[in-house]
Amino acid sequence: MEKYNRPKRLRRCQLSVPGSSEKMIRKAASLDLDYVFLDLEDAVAPNKKKEARGIVVEALNTLDFGRTTRCVRINDTSTPYCYGDIIEVVTGARENVDVIMLTKPFQPADLLFVDKLLSQLEADLGLKKKIGLECLIEEVEAMIAVNEIAASTPRLEALIFGIGDYSASQGVPFSEIEGKGNYPADIWHYQRHRLIMACRANGLDAIDGPFPDFSDSDQYRIECQRAQILGAVGKWAIHPSQIEIAQEVYSPTPEEVERARTISKLYADALENGLGAVTYEGKMIDIAVVRLLQNTLDKADLIGM
Ligand code: COA
Ligand code: MG
Repeated sequence: MEKYNRPKRLRRCQLSVPGSSEKMIRKAASLDLDYVFLDLEDAVAPNKKKEARGIVVEALNTLDFGRTTRCVRINDTSTPYCYGDIIEVVTGARENVDVIMLTKPFQPADLLFVDKLLSQLEADLGLKKKIGLECLIEEVEAMIAVNEIAASTPRLEALIFGIGDYSASQGVPFSEIEGKGNYPADIWHYQRHRLIMACRANGLDAIDGPFPDFSDSDQYRIECQRAQILGAVGKWAIHPSQIEIAQEVYSPTPEEVERARTISKLYADALENGLGAVTYEGKMIDIAVVRLLQNTLDKADLIGM
């Protein structure tokens, strides 16, 4: 199915880098990580927004980001910046920008605007590769429409749970947003579940958004794990100190990969012998278990383990 034909990219960690900071962009290019997004939205003051486009284009065209996917986060479709962000970045950086990240969509139409503009630019500029699209879910309206947004365009590759703006939109107190407030359970369980299900049903990557207290690596790790267990494939970092933790939590361990390979082989052999279920270490292995372990093997392939 077409929905599963999107490009596969590692998104264990997506580092947010202010597009107005040449210093931080240079630093980001020097780091070993899956993904950076150069931000033209909230990390850039309104009086620097247009200037930041030029900084971002120059950086994309001159810096070697190595294996890292290069994304630009743009202002939302209700602002006067959105169309200009897309046109200037894509015209300037051409094949040096891999993905555009849209902020604050409310409905599929917001994504279709970006999709159509990108299609026109790709055709007009004769670009050799298709630019990817991903978007934040950070308004309650978008969370309610998450299934429709996830299915809106085949260009879409990932949805991100944008915890900060989402909290404002839903009315969640600031003291709760890092998951260590007074709420008697994981405050984001429902939203993560809902977003991840929409992603899985449409062949998209589900990503957990930012964790602002970059000095609290223990809680950051817990937040990575909470989303990972539900099926997310990565989390944002807003500071370099968070990168290693996210990339570790969102990678299977070598033991898990080895075990998945062993069991898959065992099951393939069992099928040859006409058996649909076998025992491994005292537990039943059937096709559902093998299917579950295939998720681990797919991740391992993408990482190159
Ligand atoms: N990307 C790239 N480099 C970063 C970085 C980032 N997001 N955050 C910090 N760095 C760099 C610093 O420039 C510094 O580099 P140096 O060692 O070469 O001098 C180093 O990492 C250590 O940074 P530190 O001094 O601990 O933090 P800071 O005071 O420079 O920056 C923030 C703190 C919060 C202002 C900064 O991390 C930041 O702007 N984060 C991103 C914010 C953002 O994108 N928000 C929008 C999305 S939620
Ligand atoms: Mg936001």
